[in-house]
Amino acid sequence: MRSLDPQAESLNDRIHRDNPAIYDLLSAKGKAVYFPHLGIVKQSADARGKAIDATIGIAVEDDGTPMRFHAIADRLRVDPKQSFTYASSYGKPELRKKWQEMIRAKNPSMKATVSLPVVSHALTHGLSLAGYLFVDPGDVILVPDMYWENYDLLFGLAYGAKLSFFNTFKGQGLDLDAFEKGLKALGPKKIVLLTFPNNPTGYTPTEAEQEHMVRLLTAEAEAGHRVLVLADDAYFGLVYESGVARESIFARLADGHENLLAVKIDGATKEDYVWGFRVGFVTYGSRGITAATCSALEDKTAGALRGSISNASHLSQTLVFEGFSAPDYDTVKKEKYEILKNRYQRVKAVLAANGKRYADAFTPLPFNSGYFMCVKLAEGLSAEAVRQTLLAKYDTGVIALGRLIRVAFSAVPEGKIEPLFENIYKACRE
Ligand SMILES: Cc1ncc(COP(=O)(O)O)c(C=O)c1O
Repeated sequence: MRSLDPQAESLNDRIHRDNPAIYDLLSAKGKAVYFPHLGIVKQSADARGKAIDATIGIAVEDDGTPMRFHAIADRLRVDPKQSFTYASSYGKPELRKKWQEMIRAKNPSMKATVSLPVVSHALTHGLSLAGYLFVDPGDVILVPDMYWENYDLLFGLAYGAKLSFFNTFKGQGLDLDAFEKGLKALGPKKIVLLTFPNNPTGYTPTEAEQEHMVRLLTAEAEAGHRVLVLADDAYFGLVYESGVARESIFARLADGHENLLAVKIDGATKEDYVWGFRVGFVTYGSRGITAATCSALEDKTAGALRGSISNASHLSQTLVFEGFSAPDYDTVKKEKYEILKNRYQRVKAVLAANGKRYADAFTPLPFNSGYFMCVKLAEGLSAEAVRQTLLAKYDTGVIALGRLIRVAFSAVPEGKIEPLFENIYKACRE
């Protein structure tokens, strides 16, 4: 491999000096990457505010505002300078700061130093950045065996990782023995990828389960292993039962151990109902992480981002920031949460009323949060066959995953929830 750019060396030296375990966790690409502060970006910054600025790669009108089509501009009530131009590769500074404050507000027990979030092109891209920075070909990533299938493409195909699975459930809770066994079986670089509320099951650990997971992960770090925990918090905040962990496992791990780096990958996509806007964040936490390491990791993340998508949509970032700053943001967020919670409770009620009858066709897996729940079909039934029957005869669409059917109750109005389960039952009977 060619020798590293001096800008990468300088970031690596900083991380290695202050937080050597984090340095050890970087992939070869993660060690090599840097943000090119010394190039065009710096020269453009130097020219900012000059009477004549011939540095930036956009076109401007004669009045200095961004060149634009009125057919587009007339549809936007947003300052053209906050939408048509490029955003920084790090993301809009005010949005990064706001999101960091929001992470703290949503995870009040988190006292640890954490980095300033870098804005990604939503969570898929945030996960991909984590792959870029920390995953080398052949690395093993521990995930529950009920997982979002895109991890295969994201980590398996794109970064050559091998996914290792632990059994998700034992009884009505997580199979933490399987988790512990899976964790122990990993090599000295232990990468764990956790999504809670989980896709596809809609399960979030109870407080006690989360505590147990934190203990197991921290114990591996105490034993001298290097531990990377990727917290995919796509559905964060949508918890519907008491006793279930309300804070992200990231909040607990950010102050867990010097040998453990927690990466929070989250965003507005599902939490704030802007799926197509593509605004996500990548944030780092580790016990004893210094400001110098945080900024070096932010630089590396922005460098990887610059080398892939250059920067995330400025328009989307502006809209999302405006949304977060609106006076009724908290009220509307609560209203939307209540709608989803009511649908969740309707599902629970339908299953409670009809569970005995349904049992010869399917049984629900544990769920308490998020957008989804799953039912496991009775022995001998094929989820794909049931799905096809639902489409052909019952005007109903669901996702088939092996012997599971995933139901996105988030997308079904309350009045259609009972018919949905009746349809699944009838399709199973056929
Ligand atoms: C667990 C999980 N993570 C990430 C994502 C992707 O989120 P985004 O649309 O922000 O890329 C999804 C979307 O389905 C998901 O289920």
